[in-house]
Amino acid sequence: MPQSLFLDTLQGKCTDRPPVWFMRQAGRVLPNYMDMRDQYGFKEMMDTPELAAKVTLLPIDDLGVDAAILFSDILVIPEAMGMELSFEGKGPSFKVALKDVEDPNLFLKEQPEKLQHIYKAIDLIKQQKPEHIPLIGFCGGPLTTLCYMYQGFSQNLNFPDVIPALYRDTKVISKVIDRITEMSIEYAKNQVAHGIDAFQLFETHAGLVPSDIYQKLFLPSVKKILTAVRDLGVKTIFLPKGLGTGLSMVNYDLCDCISVDWQVPLEGVRQYVGNEITLQGNFDPRILQTTPEVITDHFNKYLEFGQKEHNWIFNLGHGLLPTIPVDNVKHLVNLVKDSDWKR
Ligand code: CP3
Repeated sequence: MPQSLFLDTLQGKCTDRPPVWFMRQAGRVLPNYMDMRDQYGFKEMMDTPELAAKVTLLPIDDLGVDAAILFSDILVIPEAMGMELSFEGKGPSFKVALKDVEDPNLFLKEQPEKLQHIYKAIDLIKQQKPEHIPLIGFCGGPLTTLCYMYQGFSQNLNFPDVIPALYRDTKVISKVIDRITEMSIEYAKNQVAHGIDAFQLFETHAGLVPSDIYQKLFLPSVKKILTAVRDLGVKTIFLPKGLGTGLSMVNYDLCDCISVDWQVPLEGVRQYVGNEITLQGNFDPRILQTTPEVITDHFNKYLEFGQKEHNWIFNLGHGLLPTIPVDNVKHLVNLVKDSDWKR
């Protein structure tokens, strides 16, 4: 592959400017995506390799980002463990939630063949993408995946039944976590076999549990998944949203890059994660709901940061929101690309 700013930065090389991409760039804010959504359902698009490949590649031209992320969803893992998933109405939901079955471990049935269409999508993306644009694969973190499986839906994002169950039925839930982990490892390794260039683990709900519980029940799984990918020579990014000072559990032993949410100032992150790891983040996506002037003003702090810190990928603290005007996103990409980073 010709030089990629994104991969060079992940390898610790100093580049002329930081690479830029956005979580949830594939979809949501793009007019071309909205036009496709008028024609197809979200799940239909995810399940059809040709459509998934097309959406994955939209943001390269429409936003000008430096990397593509596979258009899919973290909930394909529960689906491949026998849970029926729908995206109709408000967000995703499962027909039967683990909280409502007598024995979750009897209820779940692994069907890895249900992930085949995603590997096909990766093959198509690899054929169609510009050579210098790397493809990021991903899966959900074990806690986030468990939350959706156990609660069945995400409406208030508190998952009120999940955390008590973690304390009460630890043995049963630990077994479910092990099975999510095994499935995620197989999925991640197959993504690598089909040619992804980097891999991100989305632990969006890391902040739901005390960090010592996260460390004990979930971090070993995270390490297994990320190590399986690293052992195949692909760089790994970990997003543990809301982990706060629990970031001190994260270092270069665990992953190549840490995606930081907006709560922790980037300038202070290295005191937790050490000097070797690449940083990613953490522009607040809600700033993109304002005006180009406000965006530029906030961007200037990042410009200062990136003039001193070279081991950093420009991204948001979390995903793009559907209410963000696409021109504001383009404005931010242009700021990253056109500024003098003094490198
Ligand atoms: O980042 C990307 O652009 C790649 C594709 C991607 C999607 N979902 C597409 C999507 C990725 C990486 C995800 C991850 C995901 N999915 C997470 C973890 C990361 C995060 O941002 O929090 C979670 C918790 C989910 C589960 C999920 N999928 C929810 C709660 C929802 C509904 C609310 C929402 O965020 O829109 C989805 C739907 C979803 N996943 C959409 C897209 C483009 C919107 C579908 C549509 O209506 O067009």
